[in-house]
Amino acid sequence: MTDLKKILSKMTIPEKIGQLMQLRGADFTETEAGETGPNDNLNINKHFYKSIGSALSFANPTDTTEVQKTHMEKDPLKIPMIFMMDVIHGFRTMYPIPLALGCSFDPELMKECCRVAAREASASGIHVTFAPMVDYVRDARWGRVMETCGEDPLLNCIMGAAQVEGFQGDDLKNENNIAACAKHFAAYGGAEAGRDYSGVELSEHILREYYLPAYKACVDAGVSMIMTSFNTLNGVPAVANEWLEKVLREEWGFKGVVISDYAAIAELITHGVAADDREAAKKAFGNLCDIEMVSNKYYNCLEEMIKDGTFPEKMLDEAVLRVLELKDRLGLFEDPYRGINPNAEKEVYLLPESRETVRRAAEESAVLLKNNGILPLSDNIKKIALIGPFADNKKIIGEWPCMGKNEECVTVKEGISALVPDARITVAEGCGYYFDDLSEEGFSKAVAAAKDADVVILCVGEPQEYSGESNNRADIELPGAQKRLIPEITAANPNTVALVFSGRPNVLCELEQNAAAILHMWFPGTEGGNAAANLIFGRANPCGKITMSFPKKTGQCPIYYNHTNTGRPKLTNDDEFVRFISSYIDCGPFPLYSFGYGLSYSDFEYESLELSSDKMTADEKITVKVTVKNKSERAGKETVMLYLRDVCASNARPIQQLIAFSKEKFEAGERKTVEFEINEKMLRFPDNQNKFISEKGVFEISTGYADHLILTGKFSLI
Ligand code: NOJ
Repeated sequence: MTDLKKILSKMTIPEKIGQLMQLRGADFTETEAGETGPNDNLNINKHFYKSIGSALSFANPTDTTEVQKTHMEKDPLKIPMIFMMDVIHGFRTMYPIPLALGCSFDPELMKECCRVAAREASASGIHVTFAPMVDYVRDARWGRVMETCGEDPLLNCIMGAAQVEGFQGDDLKNENNIAACAKHFAAYGGAEAGRDYSGVELSEHILREYYLPAYKACVDAGVSMIMTSFNTLNGVPAVANEWLEKVLREEWGFKGVVISDYAAIAELITHGVAADDREAAKKAFGNLCDIEMVSNKYYNCLEEMIKDGTFPEKMLDEAVLRVLELKDRLGLFEDPYRGINPNAEKEVYLLPESRETVRRAAEESAVLLKNNGILPLSDNIKKIALIGPFADNKKIIGEWPCMGKNEECVTVKEGISALVPDARITVAEGCGYYFDDLSEEGFSKAVAAAKDADVVILCVGEPQEYSGESNNRADIELPGAQKRLIPEITAANPNTVALVFSGRPNVLCELEQNAAAILHMWFPGTEGGNAAANLIFGRANPCGKITMSFPKKTGQCPIYYNHTNTGRPKLTNDDEFVRFISSYIDCGPFPLYSFGYGLSYSDFEYESLELSSDKMTADEKITVKVTVKNKSERAGKETVMLYLRDVCASNARPIQQLIAFSKEKFEAGERKTVEFEINEKMLRFPDNQNKFISEKGVFEISTGYADHLILTGKFSLI
């Protein structure tokens, strides 16, 4: 154990402030690891660099080694720097985007993927990842939905905790582990109108029920750091939000490091809540934030505020100690070069077993949205037309590629060619996928290829750059001429299987109407093409379930399954307009595909749902048994879900709420009974004083998915 207090006692105030500052890797080294934010000149004196505590985004082990070496030579205190990076869905071997991996409903798989990423990142000298991103979302226009696990708070909690455990392992000293930083605290995903960085106004009970639980789950899982969000929450930017600080530090007892988002302390002035640098620093440091990421307000003003007594030095010491403790837990004082492997390129990145893990993850994340029986295809198919902008396209990592390289990805064409080498494959893009790719010039070649094929695989979607940070869309239809290409191709050959690549739910009505099958691949990562081929030809059986509703029109956003009933709900699941009910004149209120939907090549029949009792007291439990049979000849996996509805309470409750799920493997013909336990805690919700309570009365329990429930039972809390 390093004597951190002793180190602290030797530090000057500026040296302490240095520990609370984070600059970009590019400020210390020549190599650019990719843009992560605006690049303003911070006017930080170069002599001060030796005291800077951390930096973000490094490209390789050589840079981290060099920067640490120079730092250790120059810093009289010999406090190693800590290096952080956005390792969101892989470091070099890329796994599917989090929105995809959420669809696997498999937290163990999520952990495995994080282990791969942690190992690669650590070998490159990265100590902390700015992940998991656990922002709760309901609006597919927001570009950052690709980084989340969607619209269900329970799944977000489970997947958030799985990521923390996957990255951090049991012991941060183990060089294969890195520290996790959950973000963005809080409610960043509630951005008004799906526009990144815009304000968030939410009632406390909605915040507590939907938005806050996943951050809390990460805290409970032992997350090392929390990043505050850019947005205002009920008028106050998160980095300066006293209410949030109280929740995090006092209610939840979080003892780790809090970091601002990129330049968010400087942005307090732009938000219009701080008049100048001093007020910005005062609000951030005074409320929540230990480390300032890439702005200079602590550098400019904190010393003066300690000296004039605005803040006691003890408060500065506590923040610095939190940073030093993290460095110590990571073993950096023993070895500032912890984990770095100069031969990472050969010995750590893209190992065959890592590729195997991410391929499996891509298979389990894909969602079969439609299948008229055409899938899986037979290996004997002779002529395949691969059409669309993703037919032979390596850009399938998605945003936040970290050090992943598109050129290392397997395309759909490459995957299929390797799997069925005897088939004749014709590739015709047909059109591009950017907004201004409106030309129909390529249509005739694509139509001819479709006509001449036994099967068409139509690979459409959004380019990588249309989701991710700041990449919001006001219209989430398929961009360019793709919407017009679809009916031309399906008319030319009805045996058309669509593959969709995207970082958000899009409006897919043309595909639903015209394609024989739709397999949603999201952005599947390095092994995407192999995963797609395995799924199409039945080497893998689709089992993903969507975690964000797909609207029929963009104007339905935000659209989500766990909404309240309203006093005037639409009772028939169709688009017919009925006046004076909650709907739209030009579209029903229902999504095209709702949360929890996803098909399989197996045929699962839900046979029964039984409750062990029709009543329980607060101290008792009820067991729910759901019996499911795989009626097909094909083994497969099914996520059995349990939904709750509190029929009448003092607050209007959601019409459905996922309270448990279990992903089960079924052999051909196998019948299984899955058991769930219901306890009083699962019935709680925030009352008007925002205390979580349960109320006596009737509850409905169902299985199936979201608004397509299959079997329902009832019990009373007495
Ligand atoms: C801004 C993003 O909001 C955040 O998620 C990320 O971690 C930082 N930039 C650092 O790259």
